[in-house]
Amino acid sequence: MFLKRITLQQETIPSYQTYPFSIPAIKHFNQLDITSNITFFVGENGSGKSTLLEAIADKAGFNTAGGGRNNTYHVDAAESALADYIQLSWLPKVTNGFFLRAETFYQFASHIDEVGASHAYGGRSLHHQSHGESFLSLFQHRFHQKAIYLLDEPEAALSPQRQLAFLRVLHDLSTDGNSQFIIATHSPILLGYPDSDINSFDNGEINKVNYEDTDHYQITKSFLDNRERYLHELFKDED
Ligand SMILES: Nc1ncnc2c1ncn2[C@@H]1O[C@H](COP(=O)(O)OP(=O)(O)OP(=O)(O)O)[C@@H](O)[C@H]1O
Ligand SMILES: [Mg+2]
Repeated sequence: MFLKRITLQQETIPSYQTYPFSIPAIKHFNQLDITSNITFFVGENGSGKSTLLEAIADKAGFNTAGGGRNNTYHVDAAESALADYIQLSWLPKVTNGFFLRAETFYQFASHIDEVGASHAYGGRSLHHQSHGESFLSLFQHRFHQKAIYLLDEPEAALSPQRQLAFLRVLHDLSTDGNSQFIIATHSPILLGYPDSDINSFDNGEINKVNYEDTDHYQITKSFLDNRERYLHELFKDED
């Protein structure tokens, strides 16, 4: 493990009224100790997961539009408003790694084509692979050891079968302690990775939660177990 702690330097915050400190979980954030090679961020839409992940990426020196240190290309509004206010504690510091941002993956794929680096991504342009194929190609070819990977909703492109394949990639890269992942996700499959830490951004705080206590687990499970009843409740007319 490389990144051990994320601290918010509260004395420097100019205002709690504007983004990013208007987000409840960021406003009340103090310090996050990282105790597992695989750390998940979960929480409702808009709870601040991407905001914190981008700030970590920016502070770690990665391109906040997605990519590693050597991938410099421009995408609008890619700057992190939070990075200047956080401190990262490393032991030891690593500079290898990657920030994956689902929305700008297309521009990233173009950049890889332009610089002729597609040999590192399975030998085919990422544009000539399907969304899911290109994601898994990235995971399988670009991810090496002694690195930190910051991934924002990597499941977006992946079928359930490929999410399982991705769990295997996580397992292969992290079990010997040489790679670290921080992943924002809504996927109950990814969250099921064993021995990971899950941090919830709900209720205006960032707190560790058990897998079975996440909405992602509970809602998915109860939907699959009682689909008819669930749909009946959901669609019934209110009198
Ligand atoms: N550049 C910005 N300027 C102002 N507000 C922003 C900006 N980026 C995000 N926000 C707001 O901050 C809040 C948190 O956004 P963020 O993208 O971190 O949420 P998230 O937890 O990643 O959500 P999701 O699960 O939908 O990806 C949202 O209310 C969002 O509208
Ligand atoms: Mg997000």
